Amino acid sequence: GGLSPGATANLDREQVLGVLEAVWRRGDLNLERALYSHANAVTNKYCGGGVYYRGLVEFSNICQNDCSYCGIRNNQKEVWRYTMPVEEVVEVAKWALENGIRNIMLQGGELKTEQRLAYLEACVRAIREETTQLDLEMRARAASTTTAEAAASAQADAEAKRGEPELGVVVSLSVGELPMEQYERLFRAGARRYLIRIETSNPDLYAALHPEPMSWHARVECLRNLKKAGYMLGTGVMVGLPGQTLHDLAGDVMFFRDIKADMIGMGPFITQPGTPATDKWTALYPNANKNSHMKSMFDLTTAMNALVRITMGNVNISATTALQAIIPTGREIALERGANVVMPILTPTQYRESYQLYEGKPCITDTAVQCRRCLDMRLHSVGKTSAAGVWGDPASFLHPI
Ligand code: 5AD
Repeated sequence: GGLSPGATANLDREQVLGVLEAVWRRGDLNLERALYSHANAVTNKYCGGGVYYRGLVEFSNICQNDCSYCGIRNNQKEVWRYTMPVEEVVEVAKWALENGIRNIMLQGGELKTEQRLAYLEACVRAIREETTQLDLEMRARAASTTTAEAAASAQADAEAKRGEPELGVVVSLSVGELPMEQYERLFRAGARRYLIRIETSNPDLYAALHPEPMSWHARVECLRNLKKAGYMLGTGVMVGLPGQTLHDLAGDVMFFRDIKADMIGMGPFITQPGTPATDKWTALYPNANKNSHMKSMFDLTTAMNALVRITMGNVNISATTALQAIIPTGREIALERGANVVMPILTPTQYRESYQLYEGKPCITDTAVQCRRCLDMRLHSVGKTSAAGVWGDPASFLHPI
């Protein structure tokens, strides 16, 4: 209460905890309503009601890590392992541009080899070159000019806005913990954004879920390095991990603010057979009514979105796919509770079944065309539209707070 419409509030850990407790107990529906409507007002103030699309390309499920919750962890049995050919990744990026999606996220398992690095550099370079060229051709065709004139006009627009010309598709990476030198090389290849979830801000809980050699401190170091290398930084957590507390979640909100994240993605933890975290979850909650438990995790996740929006204001917050695994309209609901980004899955259908991080992952049999159209409809259903044709930089990056 007491906030003017759309105003941010620098909440502390106790205040965040208080709200999460109220949502968890479901004791104060007026508070929940006020939380979500205020978060939506802050979103509209900073993001103007337009929703940004980020096309997700899950280019490989080969991973050297063994995160205990994940369906593509190194020791997960019976997963067909794949890596998409570079040309196929580039084709998806061109399709995205032609369909108004100017931002793609290459996500894959973590592999620290030189071969993987060379592959990623090749993908990023080719995507930047080929989509820039395609963009110039599209602009020239639309304006009946030459591509050289289209390039000059994009350059003039950029100078007026004091930025880079937004030509082609901007490339985000979600490829894990790498040495600083590799982050720098990928930046030089043309990548500009990087997503790496801290998964939980509690180092002990992190250690319980990530066997050595993974370490929470090493991961934080990666986040810092990515900022230093010049990337827009995305991070996030899972909500409802076995052993996680509301106090941990309140700490997560503080963590995002302290690390100065530009993009945040939070999703509910979802069980996946054959993983140690799911065994742990089942042992912890032997009598749980799974449906009602997952519904609570859904509410907590969207409450976290709302709290981050109110605390941080001008960041990009993703309505994550995992929300849709709990409630079919989960992503739309999140867009009304603080989120302003959705990620249509553009991975070619033949690979999708093998990128099953958790059970019930949506869109497993869909095509990129279907995912794009389906999301357009979903946005429409909550009175939002996609901000097509822009890179969609988070305001936090353009105007550091
Ligand atoms: N449930 C929900 N999210 C998961 N992720 C991995 N496994 C699961 C799961 N079982 C999330 C992690 C990772 C992202 C790519 O997917 O947070 O960072």
